[in-house]
Amino acid sequence: MTTAVLDVYLTEADGHAELRLDARSGLTAIPKALPPKWFYDAAGSEIYERITELPEYYPFNAEREILRARAGQIAAASEAEALVELGSGSSEKTRLLLDALAAQGTLRGYLPLDVSETALREATSALAADYPQLHVHGIVGDFTRHLARIPSQGKRLLAFLGGTIGNLLPPDRAVFLRSARATLGKGEQLLIGVGLVIDPAVMVPAYDDAKGVTAEFNRNVLRVLNRELGANFDPEAFDHVAQWNSEREWIEMRLRARRRMTVHVAELGLDVPFAEGEELRTETSAKFRLGGIRNELAGAGFELTEWWTDSYNRFALALATAL
Ligand code: SAH
Ligand code: TRP
Repeated sequence: MTTAVLDVYLTEADGHAELRLDARSGLTAIPKALPPKWFYDAAGSEIYERITELPEYYPFNAEREILRARAGQIAAASEAEALVELGSGSSEKTRLLLDALAAQGTLRGYLPLDVSETALREATSALAADYPQLHVHGIVGDFTRHLARIPSQGKRLLAFLGGTIGNLLPPDRAVFLRSARATLGKGEQLLIGVGLVIDPAVMVPAYDDAKGVTAEFNRNVLRVLNRELGANFDPEAFDHVAQWNSEREWIEMRLRARRRMTVHVAELGLDVPFAEGEELRTETSAKFRLGGIRNELAGAGFELTEWWTDSYNRFALALATAL
């Protein structure tokens, strides 16, 4: 059996040092905030997989519908020899792209990059078994820092699915898109999946489901702090909050303290006071419109070449060419 290659650019020691910095600055900030990548330890990646199976979480099925319909066109437009994917997770939907690119006969390599080593290991070994002709090369890394380290293997298609680009705040998104442009050669393509601005009555439940799976996902970041930094958060003492911010056009995820408490973070020698009702921001998930995406891409040196939506107009795939 073919095995997958795995490069680790984010060692456990690096990750730990970074978490310490993020926790210290985020838990002493006003308002308190933590970056979203710390959701994705092994347990978090598993809870995310359960989110994708929820009836309320429409982005997953919507993006899959578009990929099913358009994978052939994407393959033909990109003529890619290598598919590079950022925040690849389980690489489940990616199989549609791999199949189309393989059928076309151009594809030689698949290079998924993710912070979650467990998710990446599982995905790459499954793919190496199912696609024996394909060179599968996983990269444990951070897509805001390690794009320049991605090996180049012929003509590339860079995919960023799942609406994850919306988890970057606008200034970080601009930096990200410029570094994506710097990674690609002229004429290579970028494929981005984005949630669209739609009725809040549809968007909000996708981040606040009836079974409470998303609430568990949100609280998982507290479990990560407990385990990695010796904190003593009681995750059950926090309510999951998901709200639509109509001005910024993003969903905000927060954890709200049910009571007044002080949390001790042993490894940082830090006491973190929470007032009753005080919130800790954990993630934003921006939603997009065609005009906005076109402008953001243009600002980073890309031309939007295709825009496809699902049948309910809830999600879009944007294909862009590096100018
Ligand atoms: N692409 C998959 C997964 C989306 S969830 C899908 O569409 O279903 C977001 C993924 O991005 C997770 O796998 C998470 O581990 C990864 N991720 C989050 N922040 C990241 C970062 N800064 N660098 C690399 N990967 C990151
Ligand atoms: N990229 C996903 C999104 O914004 C991640 C996600 C889905 C998520 N559900 C979540 C992140 C709940 C935090 C909490 O759609």
